[in-house]
Parts: sequence; C-alpha cells; structure tokens
Amino acid sequence: MTSKLTIANWKMNGNLEQIRNLLSQLFQDTAQIAHSREKVVICPPYCYQSFVIGRLAEFGWQLGGQDCSRYTSGAYTGEISAEMLKVIGCRYVLVGHSERRQHHHESNALVRQKMQQALKAGLTPVLCIGETLQEREAGLTLKIIENQLYESMAEVNTEQEFVVAYEPVWAIGTGRVAGIQDITQVHQHIKSLLVQSNPLFESIPVLYGGSVNGQNAREILSLGEVDGVLVGGASLKADEFTTIIAAAAQTNEKINL
Ligand code: PGA
Repeated sequence: MTSKLTIANWKMNGNLEQIRNLLSQLFQDTAQIAHSREKVVICPPYCYQSFVIGRLAEFGWQLGGQDCSRYTSGAYTGEISAEMLKVIGCRYVLVGHSERRQHHHESNALVRQKMQQALKAGLTPVLCIGETLQEREAGLTLKIIENQLYESMAEVNTEQEFVVAYEPVWAIGTGRVAGIQDITQVHQHIKSLLVQSNPLFESIPVLYGGSVNGQNAREILSLGEVDGVLVGGASLKADEFTTIIAAAAQTNEKINL
C-alpha cells in the first residue's frame, strides 16, 4: 500500500486575498505534521493557478486542475487544455466530477476523451465516479459504478498513472457522508473491476469524496480500501483541512511502519 493522497477541490470559490490567507494558515498549521508533502494536492480555479503554484512549490504540495478540455487546442472559447495545465505546473487533473456531469451534461464518452487528453499531456487524471441517490435507492450502485468506470476510463499505458475517486453524488456538499460499510463495499468493487480490466491496475489509488471533514476523515482514511480523500468544502477551512492532512499523515505512518 502506498501513502494516502489528500486532494483539495476548491471549486469556484475564493478571491486572491482569501487564498493567500488560507495557504499561509495551512502552511503554518501543517508545518509540524510529518506528512508526505507530494501527496497533498490543491485544485484551485484556473485563474489562481499561477499564484498558487508559486506558493506550493516552496512547500512541496502539488497543483491540480479541476477539469480540462477534450480537445488538444483550437477554437474552443473558454476551454483549457490538459497541456496548458501541465505547462503551468499541474501534476493532476480531475475529470468527470459529478458537478461537471450534472451541470454540463458530461457523458462517460466525453469524460473518457478528457482522461485521454490528460494522459497524453503527462498529467495524472483523477477519474470521478459515483451514483445518485435515486440510483442508490434503486439498488443500482454497483452497476452504475461499473458502467461509469469502464465507459469513462481511457486506455492507459503501463507507465501512465491515474487515480479513481468514488464520490457518491448524494454525499457531495450535503454533509451526508457515505457509511463506512458502503464505502468499503464500493471501493472493493472498484478495485476488483480495475484488476479485471488489467492486473497491473491493482495499485491504482481509489479515493473517497463526499462531505469529508475534520471529524470523519480519520475513520475513512483508516480503511485499507481507501487510498486517500477528495475534499471540497472542508478544504477551504484551514483548521478542517489541517485535521484531514494530520489524519492522512497518521495513517501513512502506520502504513510505512
Ligand atoms: P464536498 O465536495 O467535500 O464539499 O462534499 C467533494 C467534491 O466535490 O469533490
């Protein structure tokens, strides 16, 4: 097992002043925590990326994009290519986040193209999948997860890295976290689907996301099936995000013993 990843998805939040303060506070509060710095990733809005990379570089944390275009370049007003993210200093990019699937009607086929672009640019895509409440209540969770995973996963070379994030749609931004048993079951399912698709995918990290906060992070991160967390709301609060990083650091310490 490798060290657990902690990814912050700031979504469309913050102004420069708030971001400056948040990062200063986070660096100060986490300085004494012996955490794997390259395993903390911040995904800010595009316009703040060059500012954030300057600050992260001194601290050793990584930069990520929240999305990328399915195209390489061209007349696509408002789009940002995976290559552009790479050039500015990103190492990761989220693809298929449920807010993109929901508000921008992104299909599995489209997400697959984005993942392909990310891999081509040398980024590590974080492929987000998850069921809606309706699908869960209809008993369709595992089937939906299988369809989303297989249909939105691009072809991957053996030397390329990617990450999967399980984010039940009903748990995102709602304060309603999935139960420990549900997380364990879905993560086991994703891991077995990955291995069925390619035995080399045994080591692909599977993260959990959806209302992760300072209170529940420790329990979620202690699960063997959970290789990290994708955090929205709580990543904008220095105290909460520090507690989450501390929880990941503590679990990583145990793994590395
Ligand atoms: P949340 O968001 O932590 O606010 O639920 C998670 C996400 O959207 O990635």
